[in-house]
Amino acid sequence: MKAIDVSNLNKAYRGEDMVLEDVSFDVQQGEFFVIVGPSGCGKSTLLRIIAGLEEISAGTLYMNGEEAGSKRPNERQISMVFQNYALFPHLSVRENILFGLHVKKIAKQQQQERCLEAAHLLGLDELLDRKPRELSGGQRQRVALGRAIASEAPICLMDEPLSNLDAKLRTKMRAEVRQLQRRLGMTMVYVTHDQVEAMTMADRIMVLNEGSIQQIGRPLDVYNYPQNLFVATFIGSPPMNITKTTRKGRRLQLTDGWTAAAPDLTEDVYAGVRPEHLTYAADAPPSFFATVEHLEILGTETLLMFRMNGELWIAKWPGQWDFREGQNIPLKVADDHIHFFNAATGERIGSRPLPAGLTMEAAL
Ligand SMILES: Nc1ncnc2c1ncn2[C@@H]1O[C@H](COP(=O)(O)OP(=O)(O)O)[C@@H](O)[C@H]1O
Ligand SMILES: [Mg+2]
Repeated sequence: MKAIDVSNLNKAYRGEDMVLEDVSFDVQQGEFFVIVGPSGCGKSTLLRIIAGLEEISAGTLYMNGEEAGSKRPNERQISMVFQNYALFPHLSVRENILFGLHVKKIAKQQQQERCLEAAHLLGLDELLDRKPRELSGGQRQRVALGRAIASEAPICLMDEPLSNLDAKLRTKMRAEVRQLQRRLGMTMVYVTHDQVEAMTMADRIMVLNEGSIQQIGRPLDVYNYPQNLFVATFIGSPPMNITKTTRKGRRLQLTDGWTAAAPDLTEDVYAGVRPEHLTYAADAPPSFFATVEHLEILGTETLLMFRMNGELWIAKWPGQWDFREGQNIPLKVADDHIHFFNAATGERIGSRPLPAGLTMEAAL
């Protein structure tokens, strides 16, 4: 049975433009499902609809096989974790974790057991009597997670829960949340604007933009076969490099001397290349020459910026490469690493062949 099943969902706030348009997706039991998209695209609205905090304008929502759109939030068997923790400042850690169990009429003894268990899982055992102001940001976020765990709701909804943490702690908490979700067998719907979180945590990703679904798929499928220009440039950092092409007979020219086999289309075509697929042509004949505009040597990798038909392109190579600005260097791109998009619609052109030598199993 599907944990969550959303069909043709539309949402407009009173008298305003559509915030979500014809959104359909499902979440499997025990799945870690990530909704990712830029600020304002409708992520929180969608999560709040699933939680029962916002009404649906049109469409249906089923949870565990039952119609849920008309159920009250406390009838939906969910827990929710927000970006700003939503802790009560005057309550202790223990009371904050237990908050919500009182209303569910769970026996005192059992409440204490669940609280201790959740606190132990999250390493909060020593902090149970403290107040939120006596905790660090990471500890506060753990308390919010503890409340979700103690509720033992089968579905957990999280809205940008790690956004307020510093980068190092965020990386640590990413792994913790993912491990907890696995261990407890929870179904997770996790909202973030951070494509790295989406890539590293999700079983499946749903990319949302301006209220519309752009693509749903496993992280590597979305990365390797972005369905349109938006996904291509939103997932991956630095983003996929994009340029217009010009038709030369049966081929498309990306820049002087660099052509590729043309997809069978009369429309204008954009070509895209991921930064790591622009390689230094030491021996192989180069696809083209690039003039180094700027170089960032980061220790483990080097970013090399240059212009392609006026657009800034970035190559990303492992290791430390010491070129000079203004230097002309030979670059090579394998044909099967060039993505094509219809310039008018932004949609991906062509089938989805696997890159040479890579099976989907090996890729996962
Ligand atoms: N209560 C509300 N009333 C009117 N418009 C809202 C309300 N909440 C959000 N919006 C609008 O809906 C759009 C999506 O917001 P939101 O779901 O918060 O996006 P996200 O979480 O992806 O940043 C935004 O344009 C926002 O201004
Ligand atoms: Mg939001």
